[in-house]
This record gives sequence, C-alpha cells and structure tokens, in this order.
Amino acid sequence: MASQTILVLNGPNLNLLGTREPEIYGTETLEDIERAAAEHAKRHGLAVDFRQSNSESELIGWVQTSDGQAAGLIVNAGAYTHTSVALLDALRATRAPIVEVHLSNIFQRETFRHHSYISEVAKGVISGFGGHGYILALDALAGLIQESGATAP
Ligand code: DQA
Repeated sequence: MASQTILVLNGPNLNLLGTREPEIYGTETLEDIERAAAEHAKRHGLAVDFRQSNSESELIGWVQTSDGQAAGLIVNAGAYTHTSVALLDALRATRAPIVEVHLSNIFQRETFRHHSYISEVAKGVISGFGGHGYILALDALAGLIQESGATAP
C-alpha cells in the first residue's frame, strides 16, 4: 500500500448494498461506491484500498496492518459500529486520521444505532448521505492530510 492510500473499510452486510433494504440504503451497490470513490480519490492525488468483510476479526486485522501504511481511513463498520470495542481498540492504535461514514442517518433510526464506538476515535462522522458520504469523507481526509504536511505523490 502506497503512503497516500486511503483504506476504506466496510463492515458486515455492506456487500448486500443494492438489494439490502433499498428504502434505507438506496440502490447503489458497494462496487458502484468503490468505483466513484476510486475516481474521486485520484482528483486529490490519492488512491483507495477498498475492502469489505462480514468478519470482525478480518476488519481488525486490516486496521492493524494499515498502521504506517494508509494515509487515512474511512470506516463504515456497519453493525459493528454499535457493538465492537475490539474494533475501537484497533482503530485507537492507528495513527492515521479516521473518518466514520454511514449511508443512513443513524440518528433517525433505532436508538441502539445512536451510539457508535468508532466516533470517539474518528476526526468526524458523515451519516445520511448515502454513497456520497464516502466522497465527502475523501474530501475531508485530503484536507487533513494536506494540513498535516504529508506530500502528495
Ligand atoms: C450503517 C448503519 C448501521 O447501523 C447498520 O448496522 C449498517 C449500515 C450505514 O451505513 O448506514 O450495517 O453503517
């Protein structure tokens, strides 16, 4: 992974986007979101390493190996957002800036979705803008990386 790569982590059930509860998550597939994110990242001189897993353990492994490699992280941990202290701990151990993304507005939904373990280690949270949230997150990270003085490739 090049130093100017953004690791984009997608948690459980996000592989089902397109058919999963379209009234909540829209009809865009995860592949559509990946394509748009990869295209948009190029405008900032960044690349995306876009991943999805239904396994908490796999997501944690990816966070651990990204440290010192990824210039930033975009994290949509799906339901693990609301449950995973282990993912929080892994993210806490990384140094790159983190932006938390949710397709839906989690604060308009069931109360169990209102708490996020990820938010306390995220620079910011983008929730409710569908797949466009990943684009907004890339813009935010590009600004943070620039501010931190990292050099573009
Ligand atoms: C989600 C919101 C979570 O509450 C839910 O469990 C998901 C998707 C979102 O992108 O809106 O799987 O993270």
